[in-house]
Amino acid sequence: MKILITGGLGFVGTNLISHLTKKGGYQIVVLDDESLGKRSHVAEPIQFIKGSICDRSLVDQALVGVDAVVHLAAHTRVVESMENPTYNFEVNVNGTFNVLSAMRAAGIKRIVNASTGGAILGEVPPPVHEEMVARPTAPYGASKLAVEGYCSAFNAAYGMEAVSLRFSNVYGARSFHKGSVVAAFYKRILANKPLVVYGDGSQIRDFVFVEDLCQGIEQAILQDGITGVYQLGTGIPTSVNTLIDSMKQVVPEQYPIHVQYEDFRRGELRETFCDISKARRELNFNPATPLIEGLQVTWDWFVNSQQTSRETVLI
Ligand SMILES: NC(=O)c1ccc[n+]([C@@H]2O[C@H](COP(=O)([O-])OP(=O)(O)OC[C@H]3O[C@@H](n4cnc5c(N)ncnc54)[C@H](O)[C@@H]3O)[C@@H](O)[C@H]2O)c1
Repeated sequence: MKILITGGLGFVGTNLISHLTKKGGYQIVVLDDESLGKRSHVAEPIQFIKGSICDRSLVDQALVGVDAVVHLAAHTRVVESMENPTYNFEVNVNGTFNVLSAMRAAGIKRIVNASTGGAILGEVPPPVHEEMVARPTAPYGASKLAVEGYCSAFNAAYGMEAVSLRFSNVYGARSFHKGSVVAAFYKRILANKPLVVYGDGSQIRDFVFVEDLCQGIEQAILQDGITGVYQLGTGIPTSVNTLIDSMKQVVPEQYPIHVQYEDFRRGELRETFCDISKARRELNFNPATPLIEGLQVTWDWFVNSQQTSRETVLI
């Protein structure tokens, strides 16, 4: 099966390439502008096309002979989307519309679109699920909601099997460039700096291990007739303070963990975790990795890559 992964050099993409390569039977094309990910981060055999999803002729080129698209390319930083909503819109909405239009023209019927849970739904009582009314609190969430709308329309109007997977907080190896909480905390521990918590640490998140997420993405690639929206997380609410306690169990004593509490940041959710029963039922999604185990794998990766890459310690 030939798959195009847009944004395939990023955190989720590089883990997905590794996952699919181990499984076997996939030919992988990556379209990525290297704004964050780098070609040198992928050891597996792939066909790489450097450029933006906003460039229609490159997207057309990347789609030649492709059976399905996993669409990960995006501007992914929530706080930056508030500072520069226009750029976020250009990449996430216009770029994705470009990908969908090119797929339609090429007769490619299946897209697995990376979406998000908390940022789309806004401040609603958890667990969040697919039937809730969306009220995004930042341009990033609004862009992802718009894209879900286009996926729905391309399904209804043109028969495209377009599935949007709403990821919760993903963590794992290969996330050194991420500002998300696990990566940010590990980089600060390695740099002997205090962990910065915005708020009192009681805020709730749903931390899903990237390997489990990749299993869910693969299910969505393979399953015929899947469309619509699915929450992919663990369904387990975890406070940031609990996350820090778990990190203390994983990180050796030679790296002391200090915490600095600051004010809550505008636009950030206090509490979100998801109900994954639809994904369990229809996608056979099974996020089985305990937090401690996933944190251990992630820590080991950060320590090892710190020795080989200076990028890891940039904060
Ligand atoms: N990581 C998470 O916790 C999380 C949570 C919810 C949703 N998501 C979504 O999952 C997807 C993948 O996330 P990630 O964590 O791997 O992000 P990432 O930032 O690590 O990867 C994104 C990749 O897209 C590339 N890219 C950016 N703009 C591009 C453009 N215009 N054209 C081509 N490539 C471009 C970047 O170079 C990077 O390699 C994103 O759509 C993100 O919004 C991620």
